[in-house]
Parts: sequence; C-alpha cells; structure tokens
Amino acid sequence: MNRNSIRTEKLHGRKKSRTSSQKNQQIYKEIFPKYKLDINSIDFNQYNDIELEVGFGYGEHLIWQALNHPNKLFLGAEPFRSGVINTIREIERHKLNNIRIHDDNVIDIIENLPNEILSSIFILFPDPWPKKRHHKRRFISQNNLKKIHHVLKNRGRLVLATDHKDYLHSILLNVNINDQFEWLCENTDHFYSKPYEFPKTKYERKAIKNGRRPVYLTFEKINL
Ligand SMILES: C[S@@+](CC[C@H](N)C(=O)[O-])C[C@H]1O[C@@H](n2cnc3c(N)ncnc32)[C@H](O)[C@@H]1O
Repeated sequence: MNRNSIRTEKLHGRKKSRTSSQKNQQIYKEIFPKYKLDINSIDFNQYNDIELEVGFGYGEHLIWQALNHPNKLFLGAEPFRSGVINTIREIERHKLNNIRIHDDNVIDIIENLPNEILSSIFILFPDPWPKKRHHKRRFISQNNLKKIHHVLKNRGRLVLATDHKDYLHSILLNVNINDQFEWLCENTDHFYSKPYEFPKTKYERKAIKNGRRPVYLTFEKINL
C-alpha cells in the first residue's frame, strides 16, 4: 500500500490458505508485485473513473468490470491469498492493465485515498458474521459508511449484495441512520435483480445452490 498507512481497524477472517502450491507461491512472490496497489504511484488525474471492490474473493466481478471498462481503474482489496492468486492468474490471462490489488484490509485503501475520488464501491456478499457477539465485525457500520461517504464522488454508487436476512436489515438500518445515501430501489423486483449482469461470484453461486435468494442494493451518495 503506502501513503504512511496506519491501520485503524482489525481485520477478521482468514488470510493465507492452508496449503499453497509452489506455483501459487511463485505467482504471489514474482507476479503479484506487478499489480500490487501503491496509492502514491497513481496519477488520479489520468482517470475519469476509479472504482473499488471490497473483498473481491476469487475476482469474478473485478475481472468482469476491468474487461468491460478498459478506461476505468479498478482497485481491489482481498486478504484471502488463494483469491488474490486466482485473480492475478485471470489478470495475466486477459492481459489487463487497469487493476491494482491490496492483499489486506480495504480500510487501508479507504483511509488513504483523496476525498471524493471513487465513482463506485462494490461490496458483494460481505461476511455476514451471523453470531450476535460478532455483529460488530460486520463491514457495513456507521463508522465505515462515513469513510465510504468521504471517498465517493457526489452521486457515486455503493453497490452491495447479500443473501443474509439479518445483515440485510442491519445494512438498511445503518444506511438509513447515516442519511447521506439515496437507495435506488423502484420496486420489489428491483431488489432481487442485479444492477447489471455480472457473472456469478463464488459466494453468490453457493448462496443460490443452498436455496438463499440474494438481494442487490445500490445506494447513491448525496451531499447534504
Ligand atoms: C463472503 S466472502 C465474498 C467474496 C466475494 N465477494 C464473492 O462474492 O464470492 C467475503 C470476502 O470479504 C473479504 N473481506 C472481509 N473483510 C475485508 C476487509 N476488511 N477488507 C477486504 N476484504 C475483506 C474476505 O476475505 C472474504 O473473501
């Protein structure tokens, strides 16, 4: 990362995979540095649109976005090593040059970006932390919504997906309390349809296979 980053929040969940083949270790050591995010080296004026994906998992959505929007710059954060390696493989396969990756907590990025710089933030299937004692680990909190609000441009979008009812309620409640985002939802069908037809992510496939119906939410930042 860089920009004198100081960690202010603890990261919960897995980071390294239990086993990593030699090939994967080589990709991580030798190829990953090419795509590693260094905020200081980005010329922000070069891009009309910079977008960020939080917890991109195996990278399905990030790669799809980068392929479909070659003129935009995509930042992605994912601490899970196997996900990062899979995404690096796909970046190389498609010869993409518009993705930068931070293999750790996305808060490191959000706290070090200039204000009002991002056109969109995507958070697909954030960890639901179902146990009550873990609810404080949920990514969508008052604190993080304030940080997200700072880095989004006016009318910038926060795109979310979840298959977890209790987390859904908590997200809607938090966004409502924050009061600086407009929920773009016209009817109940809208609630269940994707904002655009991106390929299913690993977690999305798992949810559908297990009979859970994902909900897709888009919020637009409003400057009060
Ligand atoms: C349930 S998975 C969903 C992954 C992917 N978006 C999908 O739909 O398949 C949530 C992901 O968020 C990542 N994550 C959790 N907290 C994070 C944070 N603070 N910064 C970046 N990634 C985070 C986890 O490592 C995990 O891979």
